[in-house]
Amino acid sequence: MSSSEKLSIVVGVTGGIAAYKACHVIRAFTEAGHSVRVVPTRNALKFVGAATFEALSGNPVATDVFEHVDKVQHVMVGQQADLVVVVPATADFLARLRAGMADDQLSATCLVATCPVVVAPAMHTEMWNNPATRENVAVLRERGIAVMEPAHGRLTGRDSGPGRLPEPEQITAFAFSVAEEASAPPRDLEGVKVLISAGGTREEIDPVRFIGNHSSGRQGYALAAAAAQRGAEVTLVVGAVDAMPEPVGARMLHITSAAELHSAMDAEAPGADVVIMAAAVADYRPATRAESKMKKGSADAQLAAIEMAQNPDILAGLVRQRREGIINAGTTLVGFAAETGDAQHTPLQLGEEKLKRKGVDLLMVNHVGGGRVFGQDTNEGWLLGADGSHTSISAGSKMLVAHRILDGVTALRG
Ligand code: CTP
Repeated sequence: MSSSEKLSIVVGVTGGIAAYKACHVIRAFTEAGHSVRVVPTRNALKFVGAATFEALSGNPVATDVFEHVDKVQHVMVGQQADLVVVVPATADFLARLRAGMADDQLSATCLVATCPVVVAPAMHTEMWNNPATRENVAVLRERGIAVMEPAHGRLTGRDSGPGRLPEPEQITAFAFSVAEEASAPPRDLEGVKVLISAGGTREEIDPVRFIGNHSSGRQGYALAAAAAQRGAEVTLVVGAVDAMPEPVGARMLHITSAAELHSAMDAEAPGADVVIMAAAVADYRPATRAESKMKKGSADAQLAAIEMAQNPDILAGLVRQRREGIINAGTTLVGFAAETGDAQHTPLQLGEEKLKRKGVDLLMVNHVGGGRVFGQDTNEGWLLGADGSHTSISAGSKMLVAHRILDGVTALRG
């Protein structure tokens, strides 16, 4: 699937309090130009009425296998779908899906569908943690169904924990990435501790000004979400990023300056199996930070020429710590190189030099400048390995690129 392809999407809705959030998912799909058919269960209609689903999707809804029998609807809907997204999926629905039931329109549709099926569970923590549900989820994943991890947070009552439905934007992004991959992500990072940095650093000049960069954090967020989908325990160290939903399933640590990022990475890396430095780190910071706002024209105004001091290279430091045994020898270290190229060198040549200079295991080289990459939803480049391997990563969503990078990581770890 290309990101511009128009899909026939079935949105299944089951009977949980989060059913109203399905409306936002339906709207996001139709606004992106896809055609949507909503298939609610009978219980879903106790939470949101059929009229709402019909108005939002522009298509009639069917719940029962005995509706529109002349059109053989109970199999037709699943056969014609390019993507099925069940949001929210109750514990009961997961059990029925695992058992291969087909006694209502949604279960029949899922049983017939040969396209990617995405399931976004929402339930109370106890139900999610119950061995029956854990087993159902594991079996469904083995069969290639993309079961999202639920978010942690406030549930229906006063309780809080894992089981909350992820935000609609997170569900649509996940569903599109599954459709793009045409299969559920592998669970090949189960239990692997992945530490990722994302976004840009800000180096303060005075209390109101800073030196920053154009990093949006999108690629780092996509890496965190992709690694979590593949079963990793993810810690994401985040600097300045664009407004976007947090990746599902990642532990977030917030930093502002390169110095704070440095401390966070040094503290976290010894416990990590994989470290990916996707953050855009300022190489220089103002040598001194003024305590009060600098005034133009005043005698102490150094704004016209700010004296800079060099920041340490955090990634090179991690490579050194691995050599010295502070970080495990088995830890995989991955860097990014944003290159514009210059008169003498292509971005790829500069990337190859950087790989050697930094001593990392993998380096993702992006061609930046001219509006490419920063703040965009797509990315492309080359994944270079210390073993001399070159993998060209063709243009795709940052989620797809994230999976290609993680493929490189898992291949290296064996
Ligand atoms: N990086 C880092 N610490 C820095 C600068 C960069 O850890 N002080 C990391 C980035 O997160 C990235 C990699 O090093 O993974 C390469 O970053 P980049 O800015 O492309 O390279 P630099 O080392 O700054 O080299 P140059 O400025 O010469 O391109």
